[in-house]
Amino acid sequence: MKILSVEQVAQLIKTHGIENYLKDLIQQLRSDFGRWHEFNKMPRPAMHVPGGVLELMPICDNTYYTYKYVNCHPKNPESGLMTVVATGQLSRIDTGYPIMISEMTVLTALRTAATTALATDLLSRKESHVLAIVGTGAQSEFLVKAIGLVRTITEVRYFDIDPVAMDKFEKNIKASSSVILVRCASAEEAVKGADMITVCTACKAHVDVIKNDWVRPGVHINGIGGDCPGKTELEFSILSRSKIVVEYFDQCIIEGEIQRLGYDQGKSQVYAELHELVTAAKSGRENENEITLYDSVGVGLEDYSALRLTYELAERYHVGQELNLTPVVVDSKNLISVLT
Ligand SMILES: NC(=O)c1ccc[n+]([C@@H]2O[C@H](COP(=O)([O-])OP(=O)(O)OC[C@H]3O[C@@H](n4cnc5c(N)ncnc54)[C@H](O)[C@@H]3O)[C@@H](O)[C@H]2O)c1
Repeated sequence: MKILSVEQVAQLIKTHGIENYLKDLIQQLRSDFGRWHEFNKMPRPAMHVPGGVLELMPICDNTYYTYKYVNCHPKNPESGLMTVVATGQLSRIDTGYPIMISEMTVLTALRTAATTALATDLLSRKESHVLAIVGTGAQSEFLVKAIGLVRTITEVRYFDIDPVAMDKFEKNIKASSSVILVRCASAEEAVKGADMITVCTACKAHVDVIKNDWVRPGVHINGIGGDCPGKTELEFSILSRSKIVVEYFDQCIIEGEIQRLGYDQGKSQVYAELHELVTAAKSGRENENEITLYDSVGVGLEDYSALRLTYELAERYHVGQELNLTPVVVDSKNLISVLT
């Protein structure tokens, strides 16, 4: 079985090129969301623990089964740890044998960014050029890179309550892009004049990070950080003004911005699931004035796409370590032989 460490995933992304990886992943996501009904899936089971949440994300089609273990502990950075870390597994469904175990902290950032780019492509105005990022933590640079593959970004306006996170973001973006960077003193200043707003903060509470008054017609919003019961980032009144698209209603109604609508109101107010836009069963943006909201929580299908692509690339570039995490025996019934 292939084992991929963080360093090996980094090596693989470097070899393939991060832009190429994101482009390939957007394509893989299009293809996998396009066959949404072929997947056996469920809203992720979550265990709420002091300070955070621990989640398992299983899904399968008729070729592979994948799952990801992921957490969210917003106070971890205070002790030098990351808010979100993850690991994942890819298994064959014909035999049930696992074929890869991988780090998924980096892969989560890549797949979240790639899915956000896919949604942004389907929902934002074609001539959107100004991107606001509120929350410049671990996910932020990935999001800018991926959205930059579907829209020509000329200006990024950004804000975080942590000035050190803003310094880091500025340094990282400058190292790989010549986009105009506008450091803002508030979220309000960041979203002023933006065509696209991406909110990616971490706080386990209902926080009005973005206020309704600041949201002008024609804007597209990616709500990324509201992804757990009791954890939202948008002023509630934004929802009734927006055309809302979710990944998977049954999970998003528990975890997303729409959790505050409740099931029945959510059913009537949510416009579509992402796969319906991908297959063109429903239109994306229909005019220049509508406010569109991609209410993301992250679903197993995105991890499936990332693990599948990563496995193919790891095979192609011979990256990763082969280890027996399942027994190799001559007689399949003689398990005890591995001990002798
Ligand atoms: N939807 C998805 O698929 C998905 C995937 C990954 C992470 N997430 C979520 O995204 C969020 C961010 O993840 P991360 O790994 O970047 O975390 P992080 O802790 O590295 O960054 C979060 C940033 O938000 C900032 N912040 C907190 N409150 C703020 C506020 N009111 N205004 C402005 N900035 C604020 C923090 O200072 C921090 O820099 C988390 O809530 C995580 O659960 C969602």
